[in-house]
Amino acid sequence: MEYNFQISKVDRNERNKHASRVILFTGLSGAGKSTLSNFLEKKLFERGINTYILDGDNIRNGINKELSFSSSDRAENIRRVAEISKLFIDAGVVVLACLISPYEKDRNEMRKIVGTDNFIEVYVNSPLEICEKRDTKGLYKQARQGVIKSFTGISDPYEEPTNPSIEIKTNDLSIDESVQILLDYILPKL
Ligand code: ADX
Repeated sequence: MEYNFQISKVDRNERNKHASRVILFTGLSGAGKSTLSNFLEKKLFERGINTYILDGDNIRNGINKELSFSSSDRAENIRRVAEISKLFIDAGVVVLACLISPYEKDRNEMRKIVGTDNFIEVYVNSPLEICEKRDTKGLYKQARQGVIKSFTGISDPYEEPTNPSIEIKTNDLSIDESVQILLDYILPKL
C-alpha cells in the first residue's frame, strides 16, 4: 500500500501556479536538443515556472555512468530518466529531458511511466547530413572511422517519432523562432 503524504502534487502545483510536465526532446546527436531546451528553460524560468533539465550527456556522467549505447542500455537509460522525471512531476517541476531516445518503444515506455497526460514529445528534426556536417563534438567523424561503434544515425538506428506532440525542424528555423513555437505550444498546457 502506498503511503499518503500530507503534501501532494496538487498542493505543489497549486502553490506553483502551474502544472508539472515532462517534455522529451528526441532527435539525432547534434540536432539541437540541448540548445533548444536550454533557451526554452530560460523563457519558462523567466515566467516563474519551476523547471529542470535532464540531459543525456550529464545523466550518463552520473546516475547512468555504467550504461553503454547497446539497445538494452539505451532502454535502461531512458527508463531511469523516466522514473526520475516521474519524481520531478510529483515535486511540481516541468522537466526538459534531452535524450536521443532512438527507439519508439522506449519513448512509449517513458510516456507510460510518467503518464500520457503529463508527456510532451518534441521531435527535434534535423537532417543527418546537417548534424554530421556541424559535428560539434567530433563524434560523427569518429563514428565514420569506426572508432565509435553503434553511433545513432551512422551505425545504429534512429526511429522517427510517428506521432510527436510537436516537431521542430531546427534547420529551417532560427533558435528564437523554434523557441517561440515551443512556448506557444507548451504554455497553455502548464
Ligand atoms: S540515448 O540513445 O541513450 O538516448 P543519450 O541522449 O543518453 O543517448 O546520449 C547521447 C550522447 O552520447 C550523444 O549526444 C553523444 O554525445 C554521446 N554518444 C557517445 N557514443 C554514442 C553513440 N554510440 N550513439 C549516440 N550517442 C553517443
